[in-house]
Amino acid sequence: MSFPSVRLRRLRRTPALRDLTTNVRVHPSNLVCPIFVDENANAPVSMKSLPEYFRLPLDFVADEARKILEHGVKSVLLFGISSKRDETGSSGFCVNGIVQKAIRELKKEFVNELVVMTDVCLCEYTTHGHCGIVDGNEVVNDSTLEFLQKMAVSHADAGADIVAPSSMMDGQVRFIREALDDAGFNQVGIMAYSAKYASCFYGPFRDAAGCAPSFGDRKCYQMGYGNSDEALREMELDVNEGADILMVKPALPYLDIVQLAKSSFSLPVAAYSVSGEYAMVKAAAKLGWVDEKAAVLELLSGIKRAGADIIITYFAKDVKSWLNQL
Ligand code: PBG
Repeated sequence: MSFPSVRLRRLRRTPALRDLTTNVRVHPSNLVCPIFVDENANAPVSMKSLPEYFRLPLDFVADEARKILEHGVKSVLLFGISSKRDETGSSGFCVNGIVQKAIRELKKEFVNELVVMTDVCLCEYTTHGHCGIVDGNEVVNDSTLEFLQKMAVSHADAGADIVAPSSMMDGQVRFIREALDDAGFNQVGIMAYSAKYASCFYGPFRDAAGCAPSFGDRKCYQMGYGNSDEALREMELDVNEGADILMVKPALPYLDIVQLAKSSFSLPVAAYSVSGEYAMVKAAAKLGWVDEKAAVLELLSGIKRAGADIIITYFAKDVKSWLNQL
């Protein structure tokens, strides 16, 4: 059967027919909204390369979560900007660290209706801005693991639902799973930044969190964009080490990896549409070169179509009202 008896335009004739045959839909409840909590801030701080996004003081965090929930989004991913940095990132795992305080604020107010996720990585808390412990010019894998364990347990102890190790140290998922279980947190999940690429698209985030490395780059631990086989190995290892959710990051330049994750494993797949992806759309929209709403809905649908069940996006709060306008 082919043309003229087959006519694919038949099902595209009206909006109702097109809706009826839509098989990929973005929904706010599958989105995660990043929140930056800043220990140094007294008021929301705007960020040049993340337009219309703010670093928030602690006492704004619960209000922000309320707004996020009103927009149909039920999960947040917390990042801390600490006022104290040192060689080992100790402000990242102390009881009264900024993220630990923010988790407690959120869990005081929203017990089960909000999923609180936390980034577990040293770069926001270390003086050198690397994601692990530094010895000379090397970011040392095995001695970093113990610090990631401490950070994850401190987040769980404050009430986090899911911890998300993002430092790309080998063995981090296994070590964190063991530490959580030993500390009595066997219900706290791990969303593993499994396939995390060394990407220029993290630029705006590094400005926002002040975590650009002071020397070298992250290519010794994050993956190179010319390699897809490694992503499969990273994901296989994380599945075996006990990850509950696999993440691919960034999203847009790595849709093949998202698809690989979805087709290779039966875990939920998250894609992190990172700061640079947000900034590109914002910049083009500001210049009048793309329509922001149309661009974002198309991009998020593309990420979903590739196989992402969960999308972490700085546009999370906008989606519900944009979908209502369709
Ligand atoms: C911490 C971390 C980074 C991002 C999330 N967690 C920065 C990095 O790896 O350099 C980037 C997020 C974004 O760009 O939106 N390691």
